[in-house]
Amino acid sequence: TPDSNAGEKRAAGEAAAGMVRDGMVLGLGTGSTVAWTIKKIGEMVEEGMEVLGVPTSYQAQELAIAAGIPLTSLDQDPVLDLAIDGADEIAKDLTAIKGGGAAHAREKVVAASARWFVIVADSSKYVDSLSHPVPVEVLPIAGRLASRRIEELGGSPQIRQAKMKDGPVITDNGNFVIDADFGRIEDPGGLAARLSEIPGVVEHGIFENVNELVVVIDGAVKTFRRE
Ligand code: A5P
Repeated sequence: TPDSNAGEKRAAGEAAAGMVRDGMVLGLGTGSTVAWTIKKIGEMVEEGMEVLGVPTSYQAQELAIAAGIPLTSLDQDPVLDLAIDGADEIAKDLTAIKGGGAAHAREKVVAASARWFVIVADSSKYVDSLSHPVPVEVLPIAGRLASRRIEELGGSPQIRQAKMKDGPVITDNGNFVIDADFGRIEDPGGLAARLSEIPGVVEHGIFENVNELVVVIDGAVKTFRRE
Protein backbone atom coordinates (compact mmCIF):
# COMPACT_ATOMS: atom_id res chain seq x y z
CA THR A 1 0.00 0.00 0.00
CA PRO A 2 1.26 3.53 -0.69
CA ASP A 3 2.71 5.11 2.43
CA SER A 4 3.26 8.86 2.55
CA ASN A 5 5.53 8.55 5.58
CA ALA A 6 7.77 5.84 4.12
CA GLY A 7 10.86 8.08 4.17
CA GLU A 8 10.33 9.05 7.81
CA LYS A 9 9.76 5.43 8.81
CA ARG A 10 13.02 4.43 7.20
CA ALA A 11 14.93 7.31 8.85
CA ALA A 12 13.59 6.55 12.35
CA GLY A 13 13.92 2.79 11.91
CA GLU A 14 17.51 2.91 10.73
CA ALA A 15 18.53 5.46 13.37
CA ALA A 16 17.44 3.10 16.15
CA ALA A 17 19.75 0.39 14.81
CA GLY A 18 22.57 2.68 15.95
CA MET A 19 21.78 1.73 19.56
CA VAL A 20 22.64 -1.90 18.94
CA ARG A 21 26.00 -3.09 20.32
CA ASP A 22 27.99 -6.27 19.84
CA GLY A 23 26.76 -9.13 22.00
CA MET A 24 23.27 -7.77 22.65
CA VAL A 25 20.14 -9.89 22.82
CA LEU A 26 17.40 -7.89 21.07
CA GLY A 27 13.63 -7.76 20.94
CA LEU A 28 12.55 -7.33 17.32
CA GLY A 29 9.24 -5.52 16.85
CA THR A 30 6.50 -5.67 14.25
CA GLY A 31 5.42 -3.26 11.51
CA SER A 32 6.77 -1.27 8.61
CA THR A 33 8.95 1.14 10.65
CA VAL A 34 10.92 -1.35 12.74
CA ALA A 35 11.28 -3.46 9.57
CA TRP A 36 13.95 -0.91 8.61
CA THR A 37 15.66 -1.43 11.95
CA ILE A 38 15.70 -5.19 11.41
CA LYS A 39 17.10 -4.77 7.92
CA LYS A 40 19.86 -2.47 9.20
CA ILE A 41 20.75 -4.83 12.05
CA GLY A 42 21.01 -7.57 9.42
CA GLU A 43 23.61 -5.51 7.57
CA MET A 44 25.56 -5.01 10.82
CA VAL A 45 25.48 -8.78 11.42
CA GLU A 46 26.78 -9.30 7.91
CA GLU A 47 29.70 -7.01 8.79
CA GLY A 48 30.60 -9.19 11.77
CA MET A 49 28.51 -7.95 14.72
CA GLU A 50 27.13 -10.70 16.94
CA VAL A 51 23.58 -10.35 18.24
CA LEU A 52 20.60 -12.57 18.91
CA GLY A 53 16.98 -11.61 18.27
CA VAL A 54 13.62 -12.48 19.79
CA PRO A 55 10.84 -11.77 17.27
CA THR A 56 7.47 -10.35 18.40
CA SER A 57 5.46 -11.91 15.53
CA TYR A 58 5.67 -14.20 12.53
CA GLN A 59 6.27 -11.07 10.45
CA ALA A 60 9.28 -10.06 12.58
CA GLN A 61 10.56 -13.63 12.52
CA GLU A 62 10.43 -13.77 8.72
CA LEU A 63 12.17 -10.40 8.39
CA ALA A 64 14.89 -11.42 10.86
CA ILE A 65 15.52 -14.68 9.05
CA ALA A 66 15.69 -12.85 5.71
CA ALA A 67 18.13 -10.33 7.25
CA GLY A 68 20.36 -13.10 8.63
CA ILE A 69 19.83 -12.28 12.33
CA PRO A 70 20.20 -15.42 14.50
CA LEU A 71 17.11 -15.98 16.62
CA THR A 72 16.61 -17.03 20.21
CA SER A 73 13.62 -17.23 22.56
CA LEU A 74 12.63 -15.78 25.93
CA ASP A 75 12.99 -19.30 27.35
CA GLN A 76 16.66 -19.34 26.37
CA ASP A 77 17.36 -15.64 26.91
CA PRO A 78 14.81 -14.30 29.39
CA VAL A 79 16.38 -10.83 29.75
CA LEU A 80 16.87 -8.72 26.63
CA ASP A 81 19.36 -5.86 26.43
CA LEU A 82 17.21 -3.79 24.10
CA ALA A 83 13.80 -4.10 22.45
CA ILE A 84 12.84 -1.92 19.47
CA ASP A 85 9.29 -1.69 18.13
CA GLY A 86 6.88 0.55 16.25
CA ALA A 87 3.66 2.10 17.56
CA ASP A 88 0.32 3.24 16.25
CA GLU A 89 0.40 6.36 18.41
CA ILE A 90 2.86 7.76 20.94
CA ALA A 91 2.19 10.72 23.21
CA LYS A 92 4.65 13.26 24.59
CA ASP A 93 4.60 11.54 27.98
CA LEU A 94 5.84 8.38 26.16
CA THR A 95 2.69 6.35 26.66
CA ALA A 96 1.91 4.47 23.45
CA ILE A 97 -0.82 2.52 21.71
CA LYS A 98 0.21 -0.58 19.80
CA GLY A 99 -1.52 -3.50 18.15
CA GLY A 100 -2.46 -2.14 14.74
CA GLY A 101 -0.86 -5.31 13.42
CA ALA A 102 -2.53 -7.42 16.16
CA ALA A 103 0.91 -8.28 17.56
CA HIS A 104 0.72 -6.28 20.82
CA ALA A 105 0.45 -9.21 23.25
CA ARG A 106 3.79 -10.69 22.24
CA GLU A 107 5.18 -7.19 21.79
CA LYS A 108 4.33 -6.34 25.38
CA VAL A 109 5.90 -9.51 26.75
CA VAL A 110 9.06 -8.89 24.75
CA ALA A 111 9.17 -5.20 25.73
CA ALA A 112 8.71 -6.06 29.41
CA SER A 113 11.60 -8.53 29.14
CA ALA A 114 13.98 -5.81 27.96
CA ARG A 115 16.21 -3.53 30.03
CA TRP A 116 15.57 -0.73 27.53
CA PHE A 117 12.48 -0.37 25.32
CA VAL A 118 12.61 1.92 22.31
CA ILE A 119 9.77 3.00 20.00
CA VAL A 120 10.47 4.07 16.41
CA ALA A 121 7.86 6.25 14.71
CA ASP A 122 7.15 8.67 11.90
CA SER A 123 5.75 12.14 12.63
CA SER A 124 2.11 11.05 12.13
CA LYS A 125 2.29 8.88 15.28
CA TYR A 126 3.48 11.61 17.65
CA VAL A 127 0.61 13.32 19.53
CA ASP A 128 -0.13 15.46 22.59
CA SER A 129 -2.47 12.84 24.05
CA LEU A 130 -3.60 9.38 22.96
CA SER A 131 -6.84 8.90 21.01
CA HIS A 132 -6.18 5.91 18.73
CA PRO A 133 -8.60 2.99 19.27
CA VAL A 134 -7.05 0.56 21.75
CA PRO A 135 -6.52 -2.95 20.36
CA VAL A 136 -7.62 -5.50 22.95
CA GLU A 137 -6.72 -9.16 22.34
CA VAL A 138 -9.35 -11.47 23.83
CA LEU A 139 -10.01 -15.18 24.00
CA PRO A 140 -12.61 -15.88 21.28
CA ILE A 141 -15.12 -16.97 23.93
CA ALA A 142 -14.78 -13.59 25.67
CA GLY A 143 -15.65 -11.42 22.65
CA ARG A 144 -19.16 -10.48 23.81
CA LEU A 145 -18.32 -10.03 27.46
CA ALA A 146 -15.30 -7.87 26.72
CA SER A 147 -17.27 -5.76 24.22
CA ARG A 148 -19.94 -5.11 26.84
CA ARG A 149 -17.37 -4.18 29.49
CA ILE A 150 -15.62 -1.85 27.06
CA GLU A 151 -18.95 -0.08 26.46
CA GLU A 152 -19.40 0.25 30.23
CA LEU A 153 -15.99 1.94 30.33
CA GLY A 154 -17.23 4.46 27.75
CA GLY A 155 -15.64 2.85 24.70
CA SER A 156 -17.00 1.75 21.38
CA PRO A 157 -15.86 -1.83 20.60
CA GLN A 158 -15.45 -3.46 17.22
CA ILE A 159 -14.19 -6.99 16.66
CA ARG A 160 -11.50 -6.59 14.01
CA GLN A 161 -12.48 -8.24 10.73
CA ALA A 162 -10.03 -9.94 8.38
CA LYS A 163 -9.41 -8.54 4.90
CA MET A 164 -8.52 -11.73 3.02
CA LYS A 165 -10.95 -14.05 4.78
CA ASP A 166 -14.55 -13.84 5.94
CA GLY A 167 -14.81 -13.32 9.68
CA PRO A 168 -12.58 -12.03 12.46
CA VAL A 169 -8.82 -11.50 12.51
CA ILE A 170 -7.14 -14.37 14.37
CA THR A 171 -3.94 -13.29 16.16
CA ASP A 172 -0.62 -15.20 16.17
CA ASN A 173 -1.91 -16.60 19.49
CA GLY A 174 -5.27 -17.79 18.12
CA ASN A 175 -7.38 -14.98 19.62
CA PHE A 176 -9.67 -12.13 18.48
CA VAL A 177 -8.83 -8.41 18.57
CA ILE A 178 -11.37 -5.80 19.66
CA ASP A 179 -10.61 -2.24 18.56
CA ALA A 180 -11.94 -0.15 21.41
CA ASP A 181 -12.45 3.53 20.59
CA PHE A 182 -12.43 5.73 23.68
CA GLY A 183 -11.90 9.02 21.87
CA ARG A 184 -9.32 11.10 23.68
CA ILE A 185 -7.81 9.05 26.53
CA GLU A 186 -7.35 11.28 29.58
CA ASP A 187 -5.89 8.64 31.89
CA PRO A 188 -4.06 5.90 29.95
CA GLY A 189 -2.83 4.21 33.15
CA GLY A 190 -6.33 4.01 34.62
CA LEU A 191 -7.83 2.69 31.41
CA ALA A 192 -5.02 0.14 31.10
CA ALA A 193 -5.80 -1.19 34.56
CA ARG A 194 -9.55 -1.42 33.86
CA LEU A 195 -9.04 -3.25 30.56
CA SER A 196 -6.67 -5.76 32.19
CA GLU A 197 -9.38 -6.62 34.75
CA ILE A 198 -11.84 -7.90 32.12
CA PRO A 199 -12.00 -11.71 32.15
CA GLY A 200 -10.74 -13.18 28.89
CA VAL A 201 -8.60 -10.17 27.99
CA VAL A 202 -5.17 -11.48 27.02
CA GLU A 203 -3.53 -8.07 26.53
CA HIS A 204 -4.46 -4.52 25.56
CA GLY A 205 -2.38 -2.17 23.44
CA ILE A 206 -1.65 0.60 25.97
CA PHE A 207 2.12 0.61 26.67
CA GLU A 208 3.41 2.54 29.68
CA ASN A 209 7.00 1.32 29.78
CA VAL A 210 8.60 3.09 26.81
CA ASN A 211 12.11 4.24 27.79
CA GLU A 212 13.01 6.08 24.60
CA LEU A 213 11.35 7.36 21.44
CA VAL A 214 13.06 7.80 18.07
CA VAL A 215 10.75 9.94 15.94
CA VAL A 216 11.00 12.19 12.90
CA ILE A 217 9.89 15.77 13.57
CA ASP A 218 10.12 18.50 10.89
CA GLY A 219 12.22 16.18 8.76
CA ALA A 220 14.85 15.41 11.43
CA VAL A 221 15.32 12.34 13.64
CA LYS A 222 14.82 13.25 17.30
CA THR A 223 15.12 11.09 20.40
CA PHE A 224 13.28 11.53 23.70
CA ARG A 225 14.02 9.59 26.89
CA ARG A 226 11.70 9.02 29.79
CA GLU A 227 12.79 11.23 32.71
C1 A5P B 1 1.82 -4.24 15.69
O1 A5P B 1 0.80 -4.84 16.36
C2 A5P B 1 1.86 -2.78 16.01
O2 A5P B 1 2.01 -2.55 17.36
C3 A5P B 1 2.96 -2.13 15.21
O3 A5P B 1 4.15 -2.09 15.93
C4 A5P B 1 2.48 -0.80 14.80
O4 A5P B 1 1.26 -0.99 14.11
C5 A5P B 1 3.47 -0.03 13.95
O5 A5P B 1 3.37 -0.32 12.59
P1 A5P B 1 3.99 0.61 11.49
O6 A5P B 1 5.42 0.84 11.84
O7 A5P B 1 3.84 -0.21 10.22
O8 A5P B 1 3.19 1.86 11.45
